[in-house]
Amino acid sequence: MPFSHPLNVVILAAGKGTRMKSATPKVFHSAAGRSLLGWVLAAVDGLKPERLAVIVGPEAETVSAAELDERSTDFSIAVQHERKGTGHATMQATEALSGATGYTLVLYADTPLVTTEALRAFIQDTMDDKADVAMTVFETAEPGRYGRVILDAQGRPLEIVEAKDATPEQLSQTLCNGGLMLARNEVLFDLLGQTNDQNAAGEFYITDIVALARKANLRTRASMFDQTLLAGVNSRAELAAVEAVLQQRLRAAMMDGGVTMVAPETVTLCYDTEVGADTVIEPNVFFGPGVRVGAGCRLRAGSYFEGAEVGASVIVGPMARLREGTVLDDAVKVGNFVEIKKAHLAEGAKAPHLTYVGDADVGARANLGAGTITCNYDGVNKHRTVIGKGAFIGSNSALVAPVAIGDGALVGAGSTITEDVPADAIVTTRGTTKTKTAAAERYRDRLRTIKARKQAAERK
Ligand code: UD1
Ligand code: MG
Repeated sequence: MPFSHPLNVVILAAGKGTRMKSATPKVFHSAAGRSLLGWVLAAVDGLKPERLAVIVGPEAETVSAAELDERSTDFSIAVQHERKGTGHATMQATEALSGATGYTLVLYADTPLVTTEALRAFIQDTMDDKADVAMTVFETAEPGRYGRVILDAQGRPLEIVEAKDATPEQLSQTLCNGGLMLARNEVLFDLLGQTNDQNAAGEFYITDIVALARKANLRTRASMFDQTLLAGVNSRAELAAVEAVLQQRLRAAMMDGGVTMVAPETVTLCYDTEVGADTVIEPNVFFGPGVRVGAGCRLRAGSYFEGAEVGASVIVGPMARLREGTVLDDAVKVGNFVEIKKAHLAEGAKAPHLTYVGDADVGARANLGAGTITCNYDGVNKHRTVIGKGAFIGSNSALVAPVAIGDGALVGAGSTITEDVPADAIVTTRGTTKTKTAAAERYRDRLRTIKARKQAAERK
């Protein structure tokens, strides 16, 4: 449902993230396979804003374009060359929002737990209240470094005092600024223009627009917000904490969709993992980006998935690895210690153990014996292997690509196949067997004699 007024969004992502001790700007660190900025963008995407401006630091200019490309909303990127505070950062959106009407929501890129629903409620409440400037607030027994929100007798904010600048009495207040700011466009940039950097941090604070709004007789509002949705990431430990919450949410949603997890806390999902109903996921299964699994599958313990599309009633693992470009049709069986990459296994095909299938097409119901290897790489180029419907590859066979095995063909165990095999043919390339009966003891005797002679010669 659209809002009663147009909505614009500014995301502040220019912070250095010093405490991450990283060469990568903080907002490009990822949780559950998506960058922190990506999570915030996804929450904002659901609001369908008219305009979206992302403020990045000078070193993040190039990375951010890729992150933003997948968004449906029109966006612009502005660079904050010098970090002079949250107010200064917001002002970098002046051009991007020029002529925009309605309201503008300002939020931080390092709070990936915020949800579309919570933002939607905050925005609509503010619009319904006809407030000019609104902020999210929460109560906490440990207000620490948060800005303190000072209310008037009617419960409307008079000002936000940053902890660094607060008097002891203000510091004892437990109502904190959650960090989301929503203001009418008509007044936002005007108020920001009146802020100064005469404070403990020497920065332009966005929070100063509250007192300025009151001075101009504008209507301010504080909306209670769930503090857990505002958790910020400033360190690796906080990144891990956020990852844990996101994982829990993803698992809960997946189980809600009819998936069984034997030990949910051991399963690692990615933001885009899709698994069909009645699939069972055993312990310690990992999903990287781009995985879709159908219904009624069994994903056995310790398996690893990325960039793979899996049909229905498929069995994978234990300890199998499906890499990018894997496509498994219905009822395929991939067993332990099998690695698959850029390969299509048609319905009912089986690779039950110890196999590498790379750059290959495997026909329906084909059976790859233990130790089957597609030799896809010659050191310079990759080549394809084609295995026909119902073909049978004996154990420990090397298929040297490019090579094709015809439908129904049978490759004997231990073969190295370098030429195409016609349909329905039997081919074996192993060496011939020579057996000499009662020969082993005679052979050892000969070896002992030679050894004794050598030792006698050395003693002379
Ligand atoms: C801010 C609020 C504080 C609130 C708290 C909630 C201000 C002045 N204070 O404090 O009232 O309780 O959030 O978490 O806003 N950023 C830039 N450019 C800058 C500075 C910051 O883009 O020059 C970005 C950062 O990347 C970050 C966000 O703005 O994502 C917030 O900055 P931060 O320094 O973390 O503000 P806090 O001190 O946490
Ligand atoms: Mg912060």
